[in-house]
Amino acid sequence: MIKKSLAVIKKVLQKKPVLYVPLTPQHWDKQYKRGAWDSLIKTEYPNSVKIAQILISQVKPGEQILDYGCGNGGLVKDLNGHLKENYLGVDISQEAIKQARENHPGYQFLEVSELKKHPQKKIDHLVLCEVLYYVDYKKFLAEIQLRLKPNAQVIVSLYRAWRSTLIIQYLKKIMIFKETNKIKDPRTTWKVIIAKFK
Ligand SMILES: C[S@@+](CC[C@H](N)C(=O)[O-])C[C@H]1O[C@@H](n2cnc3c(N)ncnc32)[C@H](O)[C@@H]1O
Repeated sequence: MIKKSLAVIKKVLQKKPVLYVPLTPQHWDKQYKRGAWDSLIKTEYPNSVKIAQILISQVKPGEQILDYGCGNGGLVKDLNGHLKENYLGVDISQEAIKQARENHPGYQFLEVSELKKHPQKKIDHLVLCEVLYYVDYKKFLAEIQLRLKPNAQVIVSLYRAWRSTLIIQYLKKIMIFKETNKIKDPRTTWKVIIAKFK
């Protein structure tokens, strides 16, 4: 606790963001290259399984899913061949996208910079699985909202951490929560929230 508090004070003094951890694409690329995130596609994570179940039961033909910060395709593993036509995964890491494409042929993945070239794609279901800690989430959510269809569903997963509590407080200000699923396993507890922008 003391160590964490000191780390926060250090960031404040260095004028670095405290509420989120912005890491460069190069940082993520290195991590994916050395296999630091292999567990996402080799292990079962119940939060991801829950999101896949929600999507499989709710997404209608022709609807568009955007999985923002999709990594190497953890959620697609749990979609297990479903919703190929509907799914688009996007990530800041070129390496994560390369691995996702190799691991999950038939699903579409783009780097964030490529998404900007597709402004016409309007989203029905936005998935933010374990990504909001890494983005300037207030700014990001305002921007991504412009890409959503009216009434689009937003599915957010966050593990138990002080940052998540603050993120959820902010989400409650700008969204209406439909459902909050608390999912526990020996590794941690996740919240999988289904919401809509107000
Ligand atoms: C903890 S991983 C989660 C991956 C995936 N959503 C899952 O749960 O299997 C976080 C992911 O967010 C991506 N990411 C971080 N900052 C991002 C940003 N600004 N834009 C898009 N993706 C980002 C990272 O490259 C990484 O793949």
